[in-house]
Amino acid sequence: MALALGLAAAAQQRQTRQQPLKLPQVPLIRASTTLVDVPVLVLDKQGQPLESLSRDDFRAFNAVRIVACGTSWHAALAGKFMIERLARLPVDVDYASEYRYRDPIPDSSGLGLLITQSGETADTIAAQHELIAKGSKTLAICNVVGSAVTRLAEGVITTNAGPEIGVASTKAFTAQLTALFTLALYLAQVRGQITDRESLHLVNELSRIPAQIEEILRTVDETCHELARAFSTARDFLFLGRGIHYPIALEGALKLKEISYIHAEGYPAGEMKHGPNALIDETLPVVCIATQDPGDPSSVLKYEKTLSNIQEVTARGGRVIAIAIQGDTHIAQLVEHVIHIPQSHELLLPILEVIPLQLLAYHMAVRRGCDVDQPRNLAKSVTVE
Ligand code: M6R
Repeated sequence: MALALGLAAAAQQRQTRQQPLKLPQVPLIRASTTLVDVPVLVLDKQGQPLESLSRDDFRAFNAVRIVACGTSWHAALAGKFMIERLARLPVDVDYASEYRYRDPIPDSSGLGLLITQSGETADTIAAQHELIAKGSKTLAICNVVGSAVTRLAEGVITTNAGPEIGVASTKAFTAQLTALFTLALYLAQVRGQITDRESLHLVNELSRIPAQIEEILRTVDETCHELARAFSTARDFLFLGRGIHYPIALEGALKLKEISYIHAEGYPAGEMKHGPNALIDETLPVVCIATQDPGDPSSVLKYEKTLSNIQEVTARGGRVIAIAIQGDTHIAQLVEHVIHIPQSHELLLPILEVIPLQLLAYHMAVRRGCDVDQPRNLAKSVTVE
């Protein structure tokens, strides 16, 4: 049994650990230091540089509608923050399973963006048909070139994360976030929303991410292992975050419920007092994403607000596990456990924050004797509705 479990868990662990190797392989990152030639790496259906979605098209879109499912939907939510902040273009995010049933309003001047690891998710394909029928051009962020969604799309950004075997998406998620960041940066450039100097700064920050993930994998695994020992019998978990960190809270909760079968919820930290505070007692572990980019006043403000939320949880006996940036000594005085990650740009921190959450879910699942790679009732590719 132990051997079988070890083997079963192998793919998930391997793909979590492959993340730093896979990140630079997102084609956009290699484009250039200023990313001026990014669009040549958006591919068409034959894998050739794209011509049907031109730089002028990208400049002309007046909105982006992102449609996806599950983990890819969480990436989409984070992508909304990236695109709106950098490119100042409004973004709506829909569950693919909801989109086609709500008679969406046609918008031929907006970009339809599908995010999917497999490219074969039935709901996402159906939503793409709906987008096309309503006159939208569609672009896919996908890990499998030649899959159904990439065949239907006018353009494809391949995530190149390599085959993802474990049902729980890990390296595909960080690759999706990376692709979205570079797309946001490209849109910002073609729309004249960013200077070359700012672009270069962001690309430099992005290029530090693979080594930072390596560092996290080296430094936090043992802590996650110990946390699993302390909390593996918990019945429920809460994950909190604000702004772009909220989708990562959702993703942390999904990873935990998917592979360890513990009920977990992700919530925007500021919403706690509108209901979920009633859940807090000494049996509830609360994972709070409390990172900040010290160079960004809006990030610092969110961090301060998150600290207040943390104090509200601890005052009610909740047991807080915080994700914070290295050098944050203040937070250790407020909470029971802290996992430190390296500092990065506000829009890139999510890529780092999710790694400890993936490791925590992994160790919890192993500790509880669950099959990490093949969780019950789930399939890797959801090809039926
Ligand atoms: O292949 P896709 O990205 O379209 O799959 C969407 C979801 O089914 C998928 O992300 C699912 O939520 C994962 N198992 C989560 O780990």
